[in-house]
Amino acid sequence: MALKSCGYGILGMGMFAPEQVVTNADIEKIVDTTDEWIVTRSGIRERRKIAADEATSDMGLRAARNAMADAGVEAEELDLIIFCTFSPDYGCPSTACVIQDQLGIGGKCGAFDLNAACSGWAYGMSTAMAFLKSGMYKKILVIGADAVTRYLDERDRSTYVLFGDGAGAAVLGETGEDRGFVGQFLIADGTMGQELIIYDSGTRKKTEAQEAKSPYPIYMNGKEVFRFATKALGESLQGALDDAGQGLKMEDIDLLVPHQANMRIIDSAAKRMNIDPEKIYMNIDRYGNTSAASVPIALTEAIERGRLKQGDTLGLVAFGGGLTAAASIWIW
Ligand code: ACO
Repeated sequence: MALKSCGYGILGMGMFAPEQVVTNADIEKIVDTTDEWIVTRSGIRERRKIAADEATSDMGLRAARNAMADAGVEAEELDLIIFCTFSPDYGCPSTACVIQDQLGIGGKCGAFDLNAACSGWAYGMSTAMAFLKSGMYKKILVIGADAVTRYLDERDRSTYVLFGDGAGAAVLGETGEDRGFVGQFLIADGTMGQELIIYDSGTRKKTEAQEAKSPYPIYMNGKEVFRFATKALGESLQGALDDAGQGLKMEDIDLLVPHQANMRIIDSAAKRMNIDPEKIYMNIDRYGNTSAASVPIALTEAIERGRLKQGDTLGLVAFGGGLTAAASIWIW
């Protein structure tokens, strides 16, 4: 079956991971945990940590430059920058505006931040595709970057071991019908918002009840998020396949690049979705959960490692705070 795209898709990918590697052995010295617990419960062996004098935009800028070089696209050609993050440099200006300035194209294109937590970049890719499909814009930079280690507290071992920092980016534009975007699906369930929350990062002050539940900057109900994720991964991916139409089925996916939050979530979701684990790209062992950066980092690596060939059907899927989930299907 010769799939057809909408004529727009990914022109180039790039990533950036901070230099500092934090291994499970390093973490053992900081919190009451073991390498064995972390590996068996999550699949994580090491993660990266942003330098003390750096911010999220510093990682995003490097990933963006790598993606633009890969796409052969100059900054002046961009019509829009979407920066997906829940750990921005500031409340204002947006991190997208910071990047626009650093790229030397201040005032020359639109720029905004998008927050869908770990689903952020996947949401951003769908948003960018809507602009491209409408004909409003021709070239869009979508960055996913987070510095979650800035929100972690050494006294909370349940979240401390899981997260790392990083950035990934895509340049989207015209590809022709034989390559590119075919379908997407977004999920959000605000009723579960309190299951994963970062306190005092906005205008709502932490309540006494919340403080009693978690005296730390992050509260995560791991079991509820786990349950949501294993279900939402399959639902969003099926939604994207249905949106793609053309008779596409789960077994037609050649490579699936999921959000890297927990190896066990992916194993369990893969069983539910009936997807061969060989078709799933994982790198959680080396980066941990990098939130909005996780899918673009994994996709960039998968491309570099030759896991995609021309004409392959690619699935991207993520879940995260909100709670949210998002999936999309592409012809490579
Ligand atoms: N080291 C050692 N022991 C630990 C640690 C740790 N780092 N953390 C928790 N434990 C202990 C707990 O205290 C508990 O002990 P107890 O039985 O004596 O009470 C025991 O280990 C089991 O804890 P559980 O919470 O039951 O462990 P579980 O098997 O559920 O795994 C985990 C926890 C890894 C957090 C899992 O629930 C998970 O991955 N959930 C999804 C989280 C996720 O993906 N979040 C990211 C969302 S994306 C975003 O938008 C940010």
